Amino acid sequence: MALYVIGDLHLSLTGEKPMDVFGEMWANHVARTQEAFSRLHDDDVTVLAGDTSWGMSLDSALPDFAFLDALPGKKLLLKGNHDYWWTTASKMKAFFAAHGFTTLDILHNNCFFYGDYALCGTRGWFYEEDAAHADKLLAREALRLEASLRAAEGRRILCFLHYPPIYQGYQCPELLTLLDRWHVERCYYGHLHGATHKRAFEGRRAFTDYALVSADYLGFVPKKICD
Ligand SMILES: [Fe+2]
Ligand SMILES: [Fe+2]
Repeated sequence: MALYVIGDLHLSLTGEKPMDVFGEMWANHVARTQEAFSRLHDDDVTVLAGDTSWGMSLDSALPDFAFLDALPGKKLLLKGNHDYWWTTASKMKAFFAAHGFTTLDILHNNCFFYGDYALCGTRGWFYEEDAAHADKLLAREALRLEASLRAAEGRRILCFLHYPPIYQGYQCPELLTLLDRWHVERCYYGHLHGATHKRAFEGRRAFTDYALVSADYLGFVPKKICD
């Protein structure tokens, strides 16, 4: 039994959004993802840190969910900025149940327990987001993160965000303050692709170790967090 994380799988098994156009590093990314996951086991848990499917609705993302469900282990899905299929947790869970997907669950305003850890998280906010509604969107994300952190009930915390809360030349104080206050041990985030990888912040800040887990950064191999 082990815990893993990977973000930004950017699946499009309908073929509508081929990722190969984004360069050599995306070549055969679905097969490479499948091969990497084949080494996992059914009692493993993987957090998918957003930008999971290009589907515009639950129905159009169906082949991507079927692909994920067939991979070993449980997958906890976090919202990314490209997850246009995202709807309410109850609708997503009902959709998964109706299609017999037993390994997919939603990390949103909640947390999951894994051993001594609480797995918390939300999408987050990034400076490139809708600037006109920045205050409102950021306040909402901070509330979501706080709800998730509160659900940890005093356990050690691992936090998963889609957007980086810290980046070369940028910090998101509203979210970093929460990570500090709750003494989050590790924070994993995605969203950064290609040339922006080199601007990622990795390592220690305050109580927390930060790491980028975008699929193209990890070579489409889920990053093991712990047993
Ligand atoms: Fe992405
Ligand atoms: Fe993203």
